[in-house]
Amino acid sequence: MIPFVNIQGQRKAYREELEKAEKAVLDSGIYIGGPEVAALEAELSAYTGTNAVTCASGTDALTIALTALGVQPGDEVVVPDFTFIAPAECVARLGATPVFADIDPRTLQISPESVETLIGPLTRGIIAVDLFGQCAPYGKLREIAQRHGLWLLEDSAQAFGAMQGSKHACTLGDMAITSFYPSKPLGCYGDGGAIFTANKELAQKVRMLANHGSEERYLHKVVGTNSRLDALQAAVLRVKLTHLNAELESRRKIAERYNHFFANIEGFTPQQVADGNTSTYAQYTLLADNREEFIAKLDRAGIPHCIHYPMPLHRQPCFAGTASQHAGENVADMVSKKAISLPMCAFTSIEEIIGKLQEVV
Ligand SMILES: Cc1ncc(COP(=O)(O)O)c(C=O)c1O
Repeated sequence: MIPFVNIQGQRKAYREELEKAEKAVLDSGIYIGGPEVAALEAELSAYTGTNAVTCASGTDALTIALTALGVQPGDEVVVPDFTFIAPAECVARLGATPVFADIDPRTLQISPESVETLIGPLTRGIIAVDLFGQCAPYGKLREIAQRHGLWLLEDSAQAFGAMQGSKHACTLGDMAITSFYPSKPLGCYGDGGAIFTANKELAQKVRMLANHGSEERYLHKVVGTNSRLDALQAAVLRVKLTHLNAELESRRKIAERYNHFFANIEGFTPQQVADGNTSTYAQYTLLADNREEFIAKLDRAGIPHCIHYPMPLHRQPCFAGTASQHAGENVADMVSKKAISLPMCAFTSIEEIIGKLQEVV
């Protein structure tokens, strides 16, 4: 059976390196923090060119970053309407209100024009998501944030390793976060995440928040939390990081192959990668005019698929009654009815999939 993400194929390819690194941690007696986590943070910082602080998940990374940025109950934060729920959820968990910005119908990224219309006296910041692996339009978003005195947080859970011009993902806002969830382009074998910022003071604050509000043992300057990446996950990530660029290259070739296939078939529009962006293709997502029919064909061919995402956030029951419901249908509504993602990772047998697609589409 074709896997949607071939994590086992990846493990097989790096088995020797992974097992050596895993055994070294298990034999070391140091399972939380320690040299593996410190080394990973140094390597993530060197890769991106900014300061990286690891934590227990991408969701924790968002909550910690928002806390460090000073989000308070009653604040409003603009988030994209079409994405995984985490950014909106973390805003709401802090007692603030997520305000949902519409998206661009081609790149599927947050629309700066929509963001601009939502800014009011309670707005404190903007969370942009690097959806499906390409960076959001940061040039315009930064300009809007500066003009209105707002902070900009880059949710790069799906895009560690992507570029925008000469800049790395995770360096494009005042702060950024990523996720090391197993199926992410850089994933570990459990939950994990990281926060990035060029601002040394914010980096220090984030480190303190993730460690019970403490810099010095048993002295707690602020109310923090326990959000740590364990040493075993750090060791796995250090091995995978050495292969990341080669994997991203393979993912791009697979995406080109899909693009080439769908270019000649009516009714399919792959997510467009904006000029100047490279994508990690965390998902290969396209819009299918007749999604139900396409799904039936994929099922017949034995090709796995996922819907990212079946509902815009403003329609989620948990946000019913918040201020930012849209009147009528927006682009996010249209996209959530057509979006479908196909198998994607560096170990995807793309020719096998194209062969099966040719039989049914
Ligand atoms: C855009 C986005 N933000 C945040 C997260 C949360 O990351 P995690 O699952 O590591 O908590 C995800 C996870 O899928 C995501 O896709």
